[in-house]
Amino acid sequence: MKLFEIAQFLKPEELDEALRADVSAGLTSQPKTLPPKWFYDDRGSELFTEITRLEEYYPTRRERAILAARAGEIASATGARTLVELGAGSGEKTRLLLDALGASLEAYVPVDVSGEYLRDAAEKIAAEYPALAVRPVAADYERHLSRIPGGPRKLVAFLGGTIGNMVPQERHGFLSAIRATLGPDDALLLGADLVKDEKRLVRAYDDERGVTAEFNRNVLRVINARLGADFVPEAFEHVAVWDPDDEWIEMRLRSRGRQEVRVEALDLTVRFADAEEMRTEISAKFRPERLEAELDAAGYTLAGFWTDPDGDFSLTLARPQKDHDSEEMSPGRLTVG
Ligand code: TRP
Repeated sequence: MKLFEIAQFLKPEELDEALRADVSAGLTSQPKTLPPKWFYDDRGSELFTEITRLEEYYPTRRERAILAARAGEIASATGARTLVELGAGSGEKTRLLLDALGASLEAYVPVDVSGEYLRDAAEKIAAEYPALAVRPVAADYERHLSRIPGGPRKLVAFLGGTIGNMVPQERHGFLSAIRATLGPDDALLLGADLVKDEKRLVRAYDDERGVTAEFNRNVLRVINARLGADFVPEAFEHVAVWDPDDEWIEMRLRSRGRQEVRVEALDLTVRFADAEEMRTEISAKFRPERLEAELDAAGYTLAGFWTDPDGDFSLTLARPQKDHDSEEMSPGRLTVG
């Protein structure tokens, strides 16, 4: 097995600082919220992998089906030499892209917040693809985008529908920030879940076996472990509702009875009323027109749009708009003095 260093853009102190700030702001606001980023410690990453295998959770299977059918087209359209994967997770779908990109691909850069999980996944890929330079980066891709290593003919993959976990304004900021890292021969591959029947949507986020509920409650365990809090995870019920106006699924934790929680590291005591709900996550679902409009607004043109045969999930290949390129390619004009 090949050994490599993980580039650590996330220092433990920074992580703690960010967690403190997020939790403190969220628990003192009205209504209370908790930041979803903190689902993904090692246990959270494992639970999420388990979610992706649930019968109810269709997005992963659908996205994999689209990739299986279209990876060849994506490979010939991009001729990518570097694949950067944001929020790499377990890397199961990645192999479809790696296989299709074949010998022209030189480097694979998986980026994830969860360091240990990233290491395992990257080591497996490095062992399976000995000719590939695997350069994992432990980073918060919302903050460290500009520092992630690239290379010519870069394909940035942001899969799994994670774009839907951002509100529209954040999506715009994030898509624009990715756009700013792309050269004229680079591209973005974006996986996005589509609007569909409400029952299926809700079931995907509230499964029979309660894996998603456990995943949702995992954020409380993270806060207990890292900030010395005394949340009783079982004292919060998992709730998933469809918001038809915003077209997103909202995940919440609902207090079972009145309770008081102490967060030692923040010197904070929080009171919950009976049935009080905290928002933990949104998962927005898209209509194709909306996706195209948002990509256009962030400086992209569409180079490909595919769905699975049932039209459940989408994969979009987007390239930088030409007019933006010309501005960025003449840095001389920006020289001061
Ligand atoms: N990106 C995933 C999604 O929106 C994340 C996710 C799936 C999730 N199930 C969840 C987040 C439950 C919080 C709670 O589909």
